[in-house]
Amino acid sequence: MYAGYIFLIICSNCLAVNIDRIDVPLMVELGTEAVILDCQYTTKTPSPAGLVMKWFFNGPSGLVYQWIPPLRPQVIGLLKGKVDLNFRISEEPLHTYRAIKILRPTTDLSGNYTCVVSTFTEEDSRTRAMIVYSPAKNFRFIQDKKYVFLVTLICFAQDLYPKPNMTISSQGEILKQSVMEIKMNSWGLYSVAVTVEVHDDEINAPYEEFVCELSLPNINYTRNLTTIYYPGLMPTAYTAYEVQRPQHHQASGSKSNGVLFQLIDLLFLNLCILCEFL
Ligand SMILES: *[C@@H]1O[C@H](CO)[C@@H](O)[C@H](O)[C@H]1NC(C)=O
Ligand SMILES: *[C@@H]1O[C@H](CO)[C@@H](O)[C@H](O)[C@H]1NC(C)=O
Ligand SMILES: *[C@@H]1O[C@H](CO)[C@@H](O)[C@H](O)[C@H]1NC(C)=O
Ligand SMILES: *[C@@H]1O[C@H](CO)[C@@H](O)[C@H](O)[C@H]1NC(C)=O
Repeated sequence: MYAGYIFLIICSNCLAVNIDRIDVPLMVELGTEAVILDCQYTTKTPSPAGLVMKWFFNGPSGLVYQWIPPLRPQVIGLLKGKVDLNFRISEEPLHTYRAIKILRPTTDLSGNYTCVVSTFTEEDSRTRAMIVYSPAKNFRFIQDKKYVFLVTLICFAQDLYPKPNMTISSQGEILKQSVMEIKMNSWGLYSVAVTVEVHDDEINAPYEEFVCELSLPNINYTRNLTTIYYPGLMPTAYTAYEVQRPQHHQASGSKSNGVLFQLIDLLFLNLCILCEFL
């Protein structure tokens, strides 16, 4: 018994295992073919006793992958059927299957991944978050001009993940009277719409520029759209339209021409999207 303790004390260093680096991408776009989660470790001896490496999803109850060299790795729970079992990151016997290659990752695989490497006496672990995000589809910013002295600005986008945030601002200030609505579809993807009424007498210039900013919190995903509103225009026969800033006003040298009115027939393009919200 004492001999055992002495052995452990003397040899704890030679059984040591150390994670040097964990490679988990923070952002993965939905539709990506494959993503590799890697965990690089070193062991003090070439054949440490009882080496086991595991991957967990969102905490210690979420074991998803286990490998005991020289056996084949096991995929468990959430990742079952989603991993390339033949993927080898290295030809080193102690490292062959340390990485997971996830095929076509879906948004439900967003979360914290923890790599745990242990021997009989030592253990090391590292955690990284991965978000499988879905960029916007049908991101639009339109003016709904039904009345003479006001306009309703509508910004919307579909098929987003994670839960989006959207604001409409003017001159750097968020319009506080705007209303945001978020819906989730059966695939877990979000639609978002923001609407705001702007009265002509709130505008003290020939026109006003509005920015709709769409973002996915926690990741670096931001998209902006701009629309220019000209007070005093008559209501249009069209339900709504997009007005964009003239692109080449410097080159043409002319101030008044080049304003691009892009008429959008909502009945054909966007009716169903807006019906969800209005
Ligand atoms: C992931 O880890 C972060 C930071 O530790 C924590 O705030 C977050 O709640 C975790 N997410 C999940 C889904 O467990
Ligand atoms: C949405 O974005 C705005 C502007 O960046 C910010 O002030 C607000 O806190 C965000 N809301 C949420 C719920 O993240
Ligand atoms: C977001 O992007 C900025 C600039 O590109 C970068 O400095 C920052 O680290 C990024 N943040 C995340 C969470 O990726
Ligand atoms: C979007 O607009 C916000 C403020 O309106 C600004 O901070 C941000 O840099 C803009 N992003 C892009 C990509 O233009």
